[in-house]
Amino acid sequence: MTELSKRGERSPVPAEWTYAPAPESRDIVRLRERYGLYVGGEWLEAAETYSTVSPSTEETLAEVGQASDADVLRAVDSARGAFENGWSSLPGSERAKYLFRIARILQERSREFAVLESLNGGKPIKESRDVDLPLAAAHFFYYAGWADKLEYAFPNRTPRPVGVAGQIIPWNFPLLMLAWKLAPALAAGNTVVLKPAETTPLTALLFCDVVRQAELPAGVVNIVTGDGRTGAALVDAAVDKIAFTGSTEVGKAIQRRLAGSGKKLTLELGGKAANIIFDDAALDQAVEGIVNGIYFNQGHVCCAGSRLFVQESIAEPVIEKLKRRMATLRVGDPLDKNTDVGAINSRAQLEKIEELVASGRDEGAEVYQPPCRLPEKGYWFAPTVFTNVAQSYRIAQEEIFGPVLSVLTFRTPEEAVEKANNTPYGLSAGVWTEKGSRILWMAERLRAGVVWANTYNRFDPASPFGGYKESGFGREGGRHGLEPYLAFDGAETRGG
Ligand code: NAI
Ligand code: MG
Repeated sequence: MTELSKRGERSPVPAEWTYAPAPESRDIVRLRERYGLYVGGEWLEAAETYSTVSPSTEETLAEVGQASDADVLRAVDSARGAFENGWSSLPGSERAKYLFRIARILQERSREFAVLESLNGGKPIKESRDVDLPLAAAHFFYYAGWADKLEYAFPNRTPRPVGVAGQIIPWNFPLLMLAWKLAPALAAGNTVVLKPAETTPLTALLFCDVVRQAELPAGVVNIVTGDGRTGAALVDAAVDKIAFTGSTEVGKAIQRRLAGSGKKLTLELGGKAANIIFDDAALDQAVEGIVNGIYFNQGHVCCAGSRLFVQESIAEPVIEKLKRRMATLRVGDPLDKNTDVGAINSRAQLEKIEELVASGRDEGAEVYQPPCRLPEKGYWFAPTVFTNVAQSYRIAQEEIFGPVLSVLTFRTPEEAVEKANNTPYGLSAGVWTEKGSRILWMAERLRAGVVWANTYNRFDPASPFGGYKESGFGREGGRHGLEPYLAFDGAETRGG
């Protein structure tokens, strides 16, 4: 018997080359049974509470406060007090110290935050660990750097803080959206009342602990949890600015509500981004970009590349390669380090995805889903791709906000631009081609706030992000992201 066959007997070749489970321990997270509202540096009990669940198991994680109108007013009062009694007149270099401290604490506690984010929101730990947390910390580092340089960011304009900012965020990147909102607001000298989304309040509540650890003065950051009613109360309260990220529907309602109020407003709403592949693109790299564009974070991404435009001559090989790649995606336990696609954030979102996918089938598109075993409990949806899609189909028009891709084709660059812009949205786009000149030609014509070239879903705190048309207005990130939180002497404040 040869050495090789002897070894073969001892450890037979497995029938299947699947990954063994590699779960991240959740012991690092200490959940409280019940959370109040964080107002003026204290925990306030809410009269009404609701349960927040883990979307991958449906288990209840904690009871969370549903802030009433009166609670919201208290939070706004406390923010006003903190603004007037010190924070707004603190030298920028002092504000920067707090922001640097927050950034460092987030880095130190990143595993705890990543596990909690995946537990409460359903996203793969690989993503919360490697994307959400590093980017959240990076935002605080970045804006800490601006806090004492505002006069240089806006020369000859004498910037000053606007006052109290009301911030309403969604559930797809709970901690990261908190960072996008808080960091520029605080750097600019404002105080804040922030409302997390109802399904994902836990990392924002854990963040209150970071605020304490950083010894931020009481009332500078207030966190009120609750559903849309709490958000509406915040919009109506005596705040100076509202920053909202969420659905176009609610964004429009807020804009109507604020018209003529003099409150500043920024809206970051939905998208239906075009990811455009030319025939000279590096196809395997493009396929990775397509997958990242739509299956990252279960497709719960406002800038997701949900409409794929492939040049006709390469449509067949691209779709073929894409399906082969989709078959390798591992769907399941968000806390498993091998998981590529986690749980759908809520039952309501799952139902919306199911409805739109059914409409795609009914309208005549061809659907493909790789074979995968979905867990029995929890909210799940397999990675899906539609081919034979017409531009008029709902799946080509409406934001699905799930792991569902619609493939369309084009022949010429002009046709690609026309089809890509044929949407009420305008948040982002992707272009894949070897030709630099074509990238520039396309980027000039695409009506999108962000255009990625030969990559997708890349974020950097120094880079402004935001939309055109029904994707909203205002920019977050970069120097641009400070402007909505500043007023300038002699200049009218821009109202809703
Ligand atoms: P939503 O817009 O209702 O929720 C976003 C935030 O707004 C949450 O914190 C919510 O409590 C709050 N809110 C709800 N009604 C409000 C009101 N009248 N006044 C003030 N705040 C209010 O979004 P939802 O219902 O969770 O998702 C619906 C669809 O919206 C999704 O399927 C997706 O297509 C889109 N969406 C887009 C997001 C983006 O990042 N652009 C984020 C979340 C959802
Ligand atoms: Mg809603």
